[in-house]
Amino acid sequence: MNTTMVLDYRNKHILAPMVRVGTLPFRMLAADYGADITYSEEIVDHKLIKCYRKINESLQTVDFVEKGTNEVVFRTCSAEKYRVVVQIGTSDASRALAAAELVCRDVAAIDVNMGCPKSFSICGGMGAALLSKPELINDILTTLKRNLSIPVTCKIRLLNTCEATVALAQMIEKTGVAAIAVHARKVADRPRDPAQWDGITEVAYAVSIPVIANGDVFDYDDFQRIKTVTGASSVMVARAAMQNASIFRAKGKLPWEDVKREYLRKSILWDNDPKRTKYTIKQMIMEHSCLELPEGKSVNACRTLADLSRLYGEQDYHKNILEERTHLNNGTPARILQLKK
Ligand code: FNR
Repeated sequence: MNTTMVLDYRNKHILAPMVRVGTLPFRMLAADYGADITYSEEIVDHKLIKCYRKINESLQTVDFVEKGTNEVVFRTCSAEKYRVVVQIGTSDASRALAAAELVCRDVAAIDVNMGCPKSFSICGGMGAALLSKPELINDILTTLKRNLSIPVTCKIRLLNTCEATVALAQMIEKTGVAAIAVHARKVADRPRDPAQWDGITEVAYAVSIPVIANGDVFDYDDFQRIKTVTGASSVMVARAAMQNASIFRAKGKLPWEDVKREYLRKSILWDNDPKRTKYTIKQMIMEHSCLELPEGKSVNACRTLADLSRLYGEQDYHKNILEERTHLNNGTPARILQLKK
């Protein structure tokens, strides 16, 4: 791919933004199985603008590190540059732009979260709070669009009536965004409530930009099914991917234990935040087993990637990776790069 590659939102299978889950190892995992576009977890603009950009030589990544705390807020690598979308949580156009400008040369696109119903988002005027503020939406999206050379998108939920959702989507289209993702639930709906795909259909017929359908995609066949039913251009999946990222495989899902192990290996390889790795593994276990069983209890007791490696018999892999990193830091040619292929 060349450097002028612009993300095309048609006919794509997309990993949804997921807080704590959608960090580099999980995005790379989903992409290995066939995801075309992979979203970061939502990153709040206040946090991102406190970061500085740093090349991490030993991991071969680009890190955005919070000043003061040294927390890695966003980590990416060149292999995902043309498919990774950073999702921003924001309530202010200039702050959103400052956050987007920091990461824009390392990623494929910027998305604005307009669907999160959690109180921390709503209280901060972010996420679903934006849905009732069309002028602010317009300000944020047009500001991003005017100033960035990469695509800008947003992810909304359904409003209380079809007419209101369609009017919002048409207003959003006028801002010049490249696509719009529609999570087929209303703000008050809970994740267990069935997604209302017909709400997506209304939007898909009312706008001419690509619509990304999201909600209750559980199997590979659902990718085509939701597109056929709704007329959407692309499909985004969250929970079913978190539970088994091989949902993106055209040949069918792999056993979740294998996927879990591969995720752990990638977490080790990319030195993921252990809390996030632990959280994601627990989500996988909860779906397929129970956290009260021995495996769940043992994962709960883990504090570090070394602990998790020991639990899953990956201590040799962990040791090899650490040795490779030491060589790399000392300027020795790197086998780690081969491991990452
Ligand atoms: C989410 N979701 C979400 N949405 C978003 O716009 N930004 C985010 O950071 C998150 N974080 C998040 C974390 C976790 C653990 C889950 C399960 C979900 C919502 C998600 O992207 C999606 O819209 C919904 O889950 C509906 O899709 P599925 O799960 O029916 O495929």
